[in-house]
Amino acid sequence: MVLRHLMSPLDLTVEEMDALLSLAGRIEKDPKKYAHVCDGKRLATLFYEPSTRTRLSFEAAMLNLGGTVLGFSSADSSSAAKGESVADTIRVISCYADIAAMRHPKEGAPLVASMHSLIPVINAGDGGHQHPTQTLTDLLTIRELKGGFDGLTIGLCGDLKFGRTVHSLIEALSRYDGLRFKLISPAELKVPSYVKASLKTKGIPYEQSERLDADTMAGLDILYMTRVQKERFFNEDDYIRMKDFYVLDREKLAMAPKDMYILHPLPRVNEISVDVDDDPRAAYFRQARYGVYVRMALIMTLLGIEEPA
Ligand code: CP
Repeated sequence: MVLRHLMSPLDLTVEEMDALLSLAGRIEKDPKKYAHVCDGKRLATLFYEPSTRTRLSFEAAMLNLGGTVLGFSSADSSSAAKGESVADTIRVISCYADIAAMRHPKEGAPLVASMHSLIPVINAGDGGHQHPTQTLTDLLTIRELKGGFDGLTIGLCGDLKFGRTVHSLIEALSRYDGLRFKLISPAELKVPSYVKASLKTKGIPYEQSERLDADTMAGLDILYMTRVQKERFFNEDDYIRMKDFYVLDREKLAMAPKDMYILHPLPRVNEISVDVDDDPRAAYFRQARYGVYVRMALIMTLLGIEEPA
């Protein structure tokens, strides 16, 4: 069998992605059925950067499947602090675990690991580049809320330059039919040109705006809010100037469509006011819960585990 890794959402065909999301949906409805499918299997979480949701939802996913977990939650607590390369680290982890999830501040580090690995490697976020398992989570959430992807109008708001979840999500959604994007960001935090070039090549309509208001929210099915990525700024003054550029509060939400759901990969800082949390359109905590089911489905898929009858 060919060893499969997940570096980008595009590593999965549309059919594979739909099958994975369907499996995640079945797991959500009957999690007990899957409680022992990974008995004897071990997941390594190799996190060189902070995380709450991704690391812990990966660990919860493997434990829910009957497997076990090991790993580290910061570069400082691993031999990276002594200068060990990711290539050497993954060679060693391949002796201890059956599958690994890696987060790293450098773009491409999980890809390098996958080239030296004897076990499947999952990119759990690499710098400002990609975050494919957040994308699978986002897709499952959108599919559960809207019933599918075709024809949706998706607004993405905030730090579209450094927000890796945005890049992965646009790439993944671009493979469905009839989508439109509204890209809402400060001029300095616009989506990278390679993402816009890809939209242009595929003939997918998009608009750019600096304002989050009634006009830009009109017609949106989904508003995907993101925080300004403090850790990617070289200059603290720039971060302070940008960090509260958008605040979605109850007053602003009153101008939004009644059937527009709000997503956020979390963590949130100030960009969504807590007074929005009780609005039925606020779906970001539900989204975090879906992250466990989608990672359960991904672990099963990459390990080639059969679904129980
Ligand atoms: N959404 C997300 O990646 O959250 P964490 O940084 O807490 O893993």
